Amino acid sequence: MLNKLIANILPYMPKKLIWVFSKRYIAGETIEEGLLASKLLNAKGIEVTIDLLGEFITTLNEAEDNKNQYMDIVSRFTEESIQGNFSLKPTMFGLLINKNVCYNYIREIVELAAQNNSFVRIDMEDSQCIDMEIELFRKLRAEFPGNVGLVLQAYMRRTLSDLEALNDLNTTENPINFRLCKGIYVEPENVAFKKYDEVREHFMADLKYMFENKMYAGIATHDKYLVEESMKLIREMNISKNMYEFQMLYGVTPELRQMIVDNGHLMRVYVPYGKKWFNYSTRRLKENPKMAQHIIKALFIR
Ligand code: FDA
Repeated sequence: MLNKLIANILPYMPKKLIWVFSKRYIAGETIEEGLLASKLLNAKGIEVTIDLLGEFITTLNEAEDNKNQYMDIVSRFTEESIQGNFSLKPTMFGLLINKNVCYNYIREIVELAAQNNSFVRIDMEDSQCIDMEIELFRKLRAEFPGNVGLVLQAYMRRTLSDLEALNDLNTTENPINFRLCKGIYVEPENVAFKKYDEVREHFMADLKYMFENKMYAGIATHDKYLVEESMKLIREMNISKNMYEFQMLYGVTPELRQMIVDNGHLMRVYVPYGKKWFNYSTRRLKENPKMAQHIIKALFIR
């Protein structure tokens, strides 16, 4: 209740105040800040996936600008030998305005990443986007099998059947590459599991399916229970290090992150940057009132 109230009030607070908590979770506004944060993580033995902030655009001019910014970041990563890849949200290229335009822009980015021997991850957005984002992934994977991956959300009731349906794309040379996360958007009960334990249970079932079917898994969570259960599964199933990695968001649970690194697992941090940090932070707040707890901590605990 209190979280909900705070989440509703925070978006109307001054931008400067919102920045006080956001700066812990966002590399900065500029490409240079995104690159610097990535290099600092690389220096600690951590890889990155960089994300230009922005989503659910309303005009296609924004889509072209976003595409150009991604082309720059892909080039800069290669020029500066950064260990990392790229995450993007299709709605920032106009998925909900014009699917073909969106596809063509993302294709250009994936093509450049492929030329640079790199990789683009398609983030998964809310339930209205899932079919379209899977379709986009299928199309891109057909052309660039080793350079594109997708996110699946364990809280979605449909995820295990999506995995089964997508298994037809899997090959030994190019294992299909999924990031598995819990899911951040607020969805109705008939679409998504709501109970904490249920989501955890499905997360582990999805991960097991991926390993059984020799898919590459990006295990994206800060939930200690899931991290430990995943490590147990990796040991039990004797999964080799080139078939999985752990992933976390920038600034979140650095101690747990370090524990994973110290145990010899590959860690990739999701580094968001860009001018749209304010919309991103307030949107996340409205969508997920639980974030308010983290904000209060970030505001008062230094
Ligand atoms: P949970 O929310 O239970 O958090 C476990 C613990 O981690 C908390 O108790 C808290 O201590 C800490 N924690 C979690 N979030 C925190 C925060 N923001 N600040 C401070 N502490 C925090 N979702 C989606 O729908 N589509 C996507 O494409 C992606 N992509 C993605 C990439 C990566 C690399 C990650 C790690 C996550 C995503 N997500 C996502 C978000 C994901 O769906 C989920 O909402 C968050 O990761 C939180 O879920 P946890 O598994 O961490 O568990």
